[in-house]
Amino acid sequence: MTLLNSFKSPTIIIALDFYDKTQAMNLINNLDPKIYALKIGKIMFTLFGHEFIRTLHKMKFNVFLDLKFHDIPNTVFGAVKAAADLGVWMISVHICGGLKMLQSAKLALEPFQKKPLLMGVTILTSLNEKDIRTIGINMSTESYVLMLSKLAKKCSLDGIICPGQTVLTIKKELGDALKILTPGIRFQKGSFDDQKNVITPKLAKKYNIDYIVLGRSITSLKDPLIKLRNV
Ligand code: C5P
Repeated sequence: MTLLNSFKSPTIIIALDFYDKTQAMNLINNLDPKIYALKIGKIMFTLFGHEFIRTLHKMKFNVFLDLKFHDIPNTVFGAVKAAADLGVWMISVHICGGLKMLQSAKLALEPFQKKPLLMGVTILTSLNEKDIRTIGINMSTESYVLMLSKLAKKCSLDGIICPGQTVLTIKKELGDALKILTPGIRFQKGSFDDQKNVITPKLAKKYNIDYIVLGRSITSLKDPLIKLRNV
């Protein structure tokens, strides 16, 4: 599968967090695979599995399989290998799984000629600083994200997934060594759903972010295509 030849910058990845395949297909059938990539996460993969991914590949979409692997190194090795066997374009692991786990993920991809982009999750965009204190992280979101980004770089991951607010710090410290993907994209003030670290597509463009994930701010609309055309 060729890498996405996007006309948009940042590249837009649509998060398909649907329970109903028909509803998802109604949107997908109107999207140009040369412009948009699709993200399949835990909901649709659990419901519809490989078959759904094969359908999207037949339609020429680049698929980001966002299962955020986080387990012992041996298990992550197998999971990453299985994902690469599916021929997906991008996969994700939690960086906080640690050095050995990340090295195993990299090792699993070695035999593949066409490797998926290996992206490391720094922090979920649904967590603010108060939330991370409750899981024992006593540093600022920026310092935590930077610390994990350095580990991702050390393990030669292709990129990181991080909140928009931390992007400039990462770029200042690490340059362009890692691709940056940002979820938690919202168009304006108002409902952020369960997200706490949000930015607008305009700011994402200004920050030179490589990939943005658009989920409910698009998929919950009656006519998502009109909004999408203006991103
Ligand atoms: O609907 P919404 O725009 O909030 O969707 C965000 C998507 O990005 C979800 O599919 C979620 O699983 C994913 N994600 C995230 N935060 C991360 C990594 C992935 O919200 N750090």
